[in-house]
Amino acid sequence: MQILGTGRAVPQNILTNDMLAKMVDTSDEWIVTRTGIHSRHIATTESIESLAVVAAQNALAAAQLTPHDIDIVICATVTNEQATPSLACLLQRDLGLREDILAFDLSAACSGFVFSLITAQGLLQPGQRALVLGAELLSKVTDFTERSTCVLFGDGAGAVLVAPSSKPFYWTTGVRGDAETLTVAPLIHMNGPAVFKFAVEVLAASMHNVITQAGVEVDQIDHFVCHQANERILASAAKRLGVPLEKFVMNLATHGNTSAASIPLVLDEAVRDGIILPGQRIVIAGFGGGLTYGAIYLEQ
Ligand code: UT7
Repeated sequence: MQILGTGRAVPQNILTNDMLAKMVDTSDEWIVTRTGIHSRHIATTESIESLAVVAAQNALAAAQLTPHDIDIVICATVTNEQATPSLACLLQRDLGLREDILAFDLSAACSGFVFSLITAQGLLQPGQRALVLGAELLSKVTDFTERSTCVLFGDGAGAVLVAPSSKPFYWTTGVRGDAETLTVAPLIHMNGPAVFKFAVEVLAASMHNVITQAGVEVDQIDHFVCHQANERILASAAKRLGVPLEKFVMNLATHGNTSAASIPLVLDEAVRDGIILPGQRIVIAGFGGGLTYGAIYLEQ
């Protein structure tokens, strides 16, 4: 799979830790030390649809493609406003995509973008292109009286345009049906320490799995692009893999946890900042509700 272009969109409004400390019994010091998060974007006027549209338009511009060039749309989300129409179907209208496309939403919580990329890889025929997004308005399902969760989440959308290629693509996924540890029904409920333990266990292991499949050494990976949930989880994965944390691209400090949107958001930032470059080896990995996890090895 080849990434042709990336794009992102976040709400204008920023909610800082100090602002949260006026809403619940917390502090900037606690949030930064335990998570690495300083602030997050929270939608006021934006909708999940408007964010997804801008992210997709930015990816199209980066790839120098037109809406007519898209054959498949997959939106990873757990916070679309309604069960149907899907966000992917609304993008057909909003972006002016062709009618003869395949378009659907995919629900796999914070692993949603990884599951969507793997799905796109399986569907794409030679000459086709897929628009793969992660889009979330987590503020709509956050209980802002619950300090153990409300300090973690943010809103945003990220998009990539991908096409089939002869370059290596290896993937692994895992699912553990679990209706207790992390749920959105209708608000987010999470056993933080249990998810932390799960994440630390599966993140490094799944990344090691795809690196082994690819037949390369861990230190040959240029960048690790992981779900942005907690800096301590990423630090633990870096330690377990024996690589410097600097190889993990991060935007947790300014975005918090945006579930399915976090990987395409940080990917776009790293591409636009010239950190991720053509020809590099990348590992992408997600973990979260379901419980779900997955990793991809990609050469650009
Ligand atoms: O995206 C899906 C995947 N999600 C994740 O990966 C989240 C994984 N979990 C985590 O990142 C961490 O578990 C949290 C950041 C959610 C919590 O950190 P922790 O170090 O596991 O803290 P804890 O839940 O064990 O709580 C420690 C203490 C408790 O007080 P006591 O019982 O020790 O007196 C909590 O009540 O911190 C308290 N606490 C807070 N204090 C200030 C919990 N939330 C807060 C808060 N401000 N916001």
